[in-house]
Amino acid sequence: MSIQQNLNTMRHPVSNTPEKSPFNAQESMQEQTTRLRVLLLGSGGRECALAWKIAQSPRLDKLFIAPGNGGTGAYGENVAISPLDFESIENFAHENKIDMIVVGNEDPLVAGIFDYFNGREGAPIVVGPSKAGAALEGSKDFAKQFMVRHSIPTARYRSFTADNLEEGYAFLEELKAPYVLKADGLAAGKGVLILDSLDEAKASLKEMLGGMFGQSSATVVIEEFLSGIECSVFVLTDGNGGYRILPVAKDYKRIGEGDTGPNTGGMGAVSPVVFADKEFMKKVEERIILPTVNGLIAEDITYRGFIFLGLINVDGEPMVIEYNVRMGDPETEVVMLRIASDLLPLLEAAARGNLSTLPLAEDPRYATTVMVVSGGYPGSYEKGKKITGTEKVDTATLFHAGTKLADNGDLLTSGGRVIACSAYGDTLDSALANSYAAAENVEFEGKYMRRDIGRDLRRIEQGC
Ligand code: AMP
Ligand code: GLY
Repeated sequence: MSIQQNLNTMRHPVSNTPEKSPFNAQESMQEQTTRLRVLLLGSGGRECALAWKIAQSPRLDKLFIAPGNGGTGAYGENVAISPLDFESIENFAHENKIDMIVVGNEDPLVAGIFDYFNGREGAPIVVGPSKAGAALEGSKDFAKQFMVRHSIPTARYRSFTADNLEEGYAFLEELKAPYVLKADGLAAGKGVLILDSLDEAKASLKEMLGGMFGQSSATVVIEEFLSGIECSVFVLTDGNGGYRILPVAKDYKRIGEGDTGPNTGGMGAVSPVVFADKEFMKKVEERIILPTVNGLIAEDITYRGFIFLGLINVDGEPMVIEYNVRMGDPETEVVMLRIASDLLPLLEAAARGNLSTLPLAEDPRYATTVMVVSGGYPGSYEKGKKITGTEKVDTATLFHAGTKLADNGDLLTSGGRVIACSAYGDTLDSALANSYAAAENVEFEGKYMRRDIGRDLRRIEQGC
């Protein structure tokens, strides 16, 4: 590895283009002659955007998406296999000569899909972390301990189980409101509670440890509340010290305008992010990305995939809110638009452990996405509503999330988040205008969208 490689990358943070050695150039020329058969796992807007990007690659032979959705079939062939059914995936991969598996969602990674295939004779390569690496998302306690071991800036914390509830109460008393309580394990994005009063925080701690999120909240991380504006930084790493930083994005998590109401899977996203400028990103790279990439190597944790850093900007200082071990959704629906390079060779190189020769160029334009969602989401909502108007859209790319094609060819809603309307623009305003024009065209009963995506960043850009 390669402190040297990292230093090279650091000297070229803007172009993300490392120096080439003649040896690696030869190797990559050889790789460029083979065309790849790819299986992409997942069924959301993120996977639709990944499929859109992968399908543009001259290196692609054939793309399958398992299980995919009503939109992914435009970019490859949907196959009805669950991303968690490793045996069926293995059989399918064998029968269809799959070279590479790209994992969209975290569950298969946390369940160990990388280890399942790694080192098996004739098995496809997998883009993603090993099960040990996936614990960065699968266990918040593990992630916090990792950050402490590698001096990565994050909120002060302690972890508790039902055995030391009283100590948990005492720790809450040391902190100031609001109180942040996190279920240690995966909880479908619902495992974080932010509470205004000490009494509520204590009661919630007790409930969480008593099984509020099942086994996921058998351990609870309590941490200091950080105040600032968030952004999502994505890194593709090859496990050997090579990495590329993808375009930075910001998502909008709450259902209501002005960031009010309950959390959702994400109502929209914007890239680039005005405050993630060179100075901020230099801090992110030096204080967070390098110690993370090198920390994984130092701890012998195999990691050849995406690292998602959920960051918060606290008075110009980046701090880690969370790690995820996959791309973000809906951030991917803007990040894919902003990657000018062919993504497929980058994914292959990451999975093979040799990213060093490949550049990752950014499209200079803005990209925005506006999610149209089912009425009632993130609470209960009806499915099976007929979607119309998609053919009128000419200002954006529609990345389907919760859609399915009926046997008669109708496009129906099948989830809370229905379609991400993703568009380019030379300015943030023009990208947003294009996304919103598309979101107006798409029709179904009960449609809802947030009308203020990107408004906070526009205010920062305008200096008010
Ligand atoms: P997480 O699942 O860890 O990303 O948490 C979900 C959301 O809760 C984050 O995106 C933040 O908006 C918020 N959050 C989590 N931890 C903190 C913290 N320590 N301080 C402030 N907000 C937080
Ligand atoms: N947009 C946040 C996530 O994918 O977790």
